[in-house]
Amino acid sequence: MTTPKAPSSPSERDAAILSDRRFVGHPIGLAFLFNTELWERFSYYGMRAILLYFIVDTIANGGLGLDQSLGEAIVTTYGASVYLLTVIGGWAADRVLGARRATLYGGVVIMAGHIFLALPLQQTAWLGLILVAFGTGFLKPNVSTLVSHLYSMKDARRDSAFAIFYMSVNIGSLLAPFVVSALRMVGGYHLGFLAAAVGMCLALITLVLGRKQLTSTVDEISNPLSPNDLKKLPIKLLGIVIACVAVFFIAAMLRGALSEGFTQEIILGGVVDAISLVSIALSIGYFVLMFRSKKVTASERSHLMAYVPLWIGATLFFMIFEQAAAKMATYADSRTNLDTGLFVINPELYQSVNPAGIVLLSPLMAVLWVKLAGKFPSTAQKFSIGVLLAGLSFVLLAITSDMFPGATSPWWILAVAFLIQTVGELCLSPVGLSATTRMAPRAFASQAMALWFLTSAVGQSLAAQFISGLEDHPDTVFYWILGGMTTVFAIALFAMSPWIRRHMADVELTDAIPTIENAEKKA
Ligand code: PHE
Repeated sequence: MTTPKAPSSPSERDAAILSDRRFVGHPIGLAFLFNTELWERFSYYGMRAILLYFIVDTIANGGLGLDQSLGEAIVTTYGASVYLLTVIGGWAADRVLGARRATLYGGVVIMAGHIFLALPLQQTAWLGLILVAFGTGFLKPNVSTLVSHLYSMKDARRDSAFAIFYMSVNIGSLLAPFVVSALRMVGGYHLGFLAAAVGMCLALITLVLGRKQLTSTVDEISNPLSPNDLKKLPIKLLGIVIACVAVFFIAAMLRGALSEGFTQEIILGGVVDAISLVSIALSIGYFVLMFRSKKVTASERSHLMAYVPLWIGATLFFMIFEQAAAKMATYADSRTNLDTGLFVINPELYQSVNPAGIVLLSPLMAVLWVKLAGKFPSTAQKFSIGVLLAGLSFVLLAITSDMFPGATSPWWILAVAFLIQTVGELCLSPVGLSATTRMAPRAFASQAMALWFLTSAVGQSLAAQFISGLEDHPDTVFYWILGGMTTVFAIALFAMSPWIRRHMADVELTDAIPTIENAEKKA
């Protein structure tokens, strides 16, 4: 017999990996994926921390010289397109590439994107952003799939694996703003983007080095395209591209391209509108498809009905939460007194408050949920609390944005707003993921994940539309409207929670947070 260290066949090697406990009780492959995601998130959030400032800064200062609110709409739409593209990235992995290749190719494209951003040229910056968005759409959903390949279906370590993995997300996004903002101060925006490129390079190196530590299943294509489908693929892709271009042209016309011509502002505005329309249409399409499908049973349809208000709640949550790098970055830069008395803060560093809060608070929240398990709150109530906190964070910013002399709030106000959102994220994000998988109709299991990522795409699209629509109003109006409507919806969601609970009774866990403690309790 072969020893576990040198297995001869792929199945023996896979078995050895599944029972490996060398990395804090987990397969060593998790350590590689942990590093891959850490550096990928480092690159993404590092880039995002300076993106708005880069877009709106003057050309003389090395920026792109665009108007503030257009810059905010672009950053927001950019975030929307990243999550919109995960739909394609997930599809490509399932049907053409397999999860590992999709992650790897996505990573190469992201790195190329950051390199283009690092070049001190205007035109290449846009190309760089497009590449990072496409690459992230391929990498982000699939690297999580790679984690799940390290465990057998029944392995109780699965949930703790994801808790560990989520730490890598937050460690990467916590560190990045410090490094990138320091480099920006020394050598300008492009040096900051270069740090992101180096981060992504480290991510790729760890992914390649870790290949032998992943099971052979990571290269399987779960639902391969038939030769016939493959033949039709180029035509279908062309159809999608033509449809997107047509939506863009219509949007640009509506923005005044006919009278003013295709100015840079109109082109970018058209892109913002087109991405908003596509993400909203795609989400509605998914819901209609699921509701009307013959493959969906009556009880699954009832779950789906209960899922709709949760989905809308999550959309409003992300509409606010993802303003971190847009409106809230403006708040940091121009409405906050960055002098703490002891030192002056770089505005980019506010981007680190959320990941730092997650790292510190998630163990506490896990303990709290376990203590409250089965009593309060239900999935829908947790969702409502998450949405409410997002709404309240904006109400806080609405109240404070004009309250202090010179319209500059003390440095800690924005930090508190970020922390409120972080607690909200801990109430909503993990619960949302698990609720999505539990409430998804069987026939649509993987598309349901896409539907979850679409909450972020649609939320950010809505935000982008509000930013453009309220361009001529002070930011306070923006904060009141988004904060107000989200708060009101959260209260309605809370009121609806008994109805939601009834509709999902058979899939409601007594404790909806998937932690290792819960898995052990159930066992
Ligand atoms: N910080 C999280 C991440 O980057 C934010 C997020 C939550 C993104 C949920 C997508 C979905 O992974």
